[in-house]
Amino acid sequence: MTAYTSILQITDMHILPGPDDTLLGVNTEHYFHAILEHAFANYQHFDLILVTGDLAQDPCPASYLRILNRLEACNTPCICLPGNHDDYDLMQQILNTRLVNCRKQISMENWQLICLNSQKPGDVPEGRLSQQELLFIEDCLISKPDRHALIAVHHHCLKTNGFMDTMMIENSQDFLAIINKYPQIKAVTTGHIHQVMDITIGTVRVLGAPSTCFQFKPESETFSVETAAPGYRLIRLYADGRLESEIIRLPGQLKGLQINNQGY
Ligand SMILES: [Fe+2]
Repeated sequence: MTAYTSILQITDMHILPGPDDTLLGVNTEHYFHAILEHAFANYQHFDLILVTGDLAQDPCPASYLRILNRLEACNTPCICLPGNHDDYDLMQQILNTRLVNCRKQISMENWQLICLNSQKPGDVPEGRLSQQELLFIEDCLISKPDRHALIAVHHHCLKTNGFMDTMMIENSQDFLAIINKYPQIKAVTTGHIHQVMDITIGTVRVLGAPSTCFQFKPESETFSVETAAPGYRLIRLYADGRLESEIIRLPGQLKGLQINNQGY
């Protein structure tokens, strides 16, 4: 029996309508599968898979059904939350099984996982936490005051010092005020930035994970992708509130990437 809860965080798969389709020259589906194969080959067991948004690039039932089938094959509980590219209604309809779903509050040993929807209405890349989402965080914390909390949300709440900072949670000050108010919150983990973040503010660890497909060049003022390898984040939650986390990358560089400075 493990002395901790182990989470595999994957993010920003950007799955396309067809399994052989490519985005910026990259077969995103191939790398989504490669990441899961690598993680399970090297670590065998996870208590939870956490998928932090942008599951689909152009959301359609076929994309979410293939994602569902691949995640179901892991035979591991899996929680998905939406990114700016996702169709949350469609996600919730299709990713809706006993193992794979979009639940927002999950109990794990002495912890709870709180999953947020940071989509801003209007199909825009930046994020926002609605008043409803901010209240939801507080409700979760107040209803389970003895549990440590990990918050998962697609958009980032701290600056990366690059072009992605025009697309962060626009009311992140409201979010950070809640983080400061509740000492049960031990960490926040995000997707969206397609690069690593690991910043500690007070006693809270603020994490970001690489994408399972292409990465954005850190600290670039303009849109820029790079051939750094796809990766994932491991998170271990200990009953006493400690958290360990590390980034794992696939061996070698990303294949097929067509450098494009215009966006995707
Ligand atoms: Fe993304």
